[in-house]
Formats: sequence, C-alpha cells, structure tokens
Amino acid sequence: MSANKPIEHIGVFTSGGDSPGMNAAIRAVVRAGVANGLRVSGIMGGYDGLVQDQVRPLGARDVSNIIQRGGTILRSARSEAFRTAEGRTQAHATMQRHGMDALVAIGGDGTFTGAHILFEEHGSRVIGLPGTIDNDLFGTDRTIGFDTAVNTAVEAMDKIRDTASSHDRLFFVEVMGRDAGFIALASAIASGAEYVMVPERYQGIEALTDELKKASRSKSSSIVVVAEGDEQGGAFAVAEKVKKQLPERDMRVTVLGHLQRGGSPTAMDRILASRLGVAAVEHLLQGRHGCMLGEVNGTVVATPFATAIGQRKPLQEELLALIPILSV
Ligand code: F6P
Repeated sequence: MSANKPIEHIGVFTSGGDSPGMNAAIRAVVRAGVANGLRVSGIMGGYDGLVQDQVRPLGARDVSNIIQRGGTILRSARSEAFRTAEGRTQAHATMQRHGMDALVAIGGDGTFTGAHILFEEHGSRVIGLPGTIDNDLFGTDRTIGFDTAVNTAVEAMDKIRDTASSHDRLFFVEVMGRDAGFIALASAIASGAEYVMVPERYQGIEALTDELKKASRSKSSSIVVVAEGDEQGGAFAVAEKVKKQLPERDMRVTVLGHLQRGGSPTAMDRILASRLGVAAVEHLLQGRHGCMLGEVNGTVVATPFATAIGQRKPLQEELLALIPILSV
C-alpha cells in the first residue's frame, strides 16, 4: 500500500471501553465515505478484528437507526494479539488483502497508541476519534460519550439525594474514571454534591471529615462523589475511613459502575460524534492522518497521536474550586 495512493476504501472500528455516541460516529464515517464515493468497511471487535480479518462492507443503510443507540454495532475489545509485532503484521495484511487505504479508529489513548505504532511499523494511515466516557484525552474539550455518562450519573445522584435527605444520610457515590476525575467533577457540580474526590488531586481523609462536620451544622444529608481512581481507593474505602472518624453518621455507598457506559447518547454526544466522523473522512481525503480529531473551543482540531497520547489533559481547577462555594 503506497502512502500516496488516493483514498478509495476506508475501514472503521471501535476499540477499548465503549461509549455512548460511538454508533453515531460510525454512522457519520460511513455516510461521509459514501457521500464522497468511497467504499467503507466495518472492522469487528477493535484491533482483534483487524488481526483476525473480521471485516464487513458497510453501506449508508447499514447504519440506519443507530444514532440513538448506546454501545457499538462494531463491538469493542482490548486486543492482546495486537500488542505483539506479529499481530500488527497480520493487521496490516488484513488491510492489504481488502485494499483498505486508511482507517478511522474510535477509542481512547490505548487505541491511538496502537494506531501510532501501526503507522511507524507499516505506514498505515489512521485518523482517531476520541471515544471514551472518561474525557481524559488531550486535544479535545469533550470526548464522545462523556456528556451522556455525566447525565446518567447526575440522574442517579438526583435520586440518591431524595433518599439521602429523607433519612439524614451521608452518601458516597462512586463514578467511573480510573485515571481521571472529569466525570466525578462534572457530576458533582451538576448534582450539587458537597464534596468530590478525584485522582488528579490528593485529598486526605481529615480534610474531607472536616468539611463534612462543617456541613452537618446546617445540613442533615450530604453527597460525596468519589472517582473510582481516587488515591484513597474508591467509595467503599473512603466510607470506611470516614466512618472511623465520624462513627455517629449514618452512611451508605453507591457504586454506579458500568451503568455509566451504556444508554442512548445525549444530543450533544450525537452532534460531536457526527461532526468528528465527517471531519475524519474529509481529513483523510485531504491527505491528513496520524492524528486524533477533537473539538476545542467549538472548532475541529487535529492533534498528532504522539501529542494526544503523551499529554495529560488537566482537570479544570476553577471548576474544582466551585464545589466548596456552592455547598456552603
Ligand atoms: O471507558 C473507560 C472506563 O470507563 C474507566 O473509567 C473504567 O475504569 C474502565 O473503563 C473499566 O472498563 P472495563 O470494565 O471495560 O475494563
């Protein structure tokens, strides 16, 4: 496959943890491809499907009725085979066998690391789209799926608030985010939580208990949002430590877990996915690849894979600072 060969056939796949809006992105890539006279193929099960030649043609009608569906019609996986040089050679061979000139990879940093290596070893042309609920990718203000996950978490916390205030209880609610606190921070603000614990900022248990004691002077119930990757070890661990300091408080723990990964995408996620999916095809046709597309300040921006993988997106300090003000 020559790097200069015009793009006639593109493959699209989803990889890593799924996120709501991935289907909307697949639909946009397929339809933009068809609109530009290209062949489009779907690769099943992420990089594994590329290694094992799980490829099927996708036409405009094959992606009907999926914009509103969570999950991914192409399935997703974290591929062990693709981590080996032999696996990547097989993946490249699949592309050649099908005459695929380029790929659109929808996923997170692991997905883009794979794409970067595939280019270095085999010259494969790949454009990445940020598909993860965690919002932890540099080069985009929001990832596809983040808004839906936050709304799911907020809906759950609104319900928890009802029962928490009825029983004067302290709730610890754990949200996803193995390495990042974006879901925790956004859902804490939107649900009016009293405290948030995130991996980006170390917070001792004393600081938390001090805040809870202060809050208990004027409030009978409180919600503490804990990102799963927080250094204190998740909501159960935090609750156990707090219980030792505040044995008189009635406490409960709720772990939202994979609920946050499913569900119909919000309009915001559908629009972001649609915009970036079309842009991915346009970039490939203009000869651009080796980068992730994101939206920064309302504009589509391309960030080289090396930068997207290598840089950590900072949590918004000014949003963190709102929590103590809003929970007085
Ligand atoms: O998609 C990212 C993420 O939701 C993380 O926040 C979480 O730790 C992880 O996926 C869990 O994914 P899995 O259960 O698929 O390994």
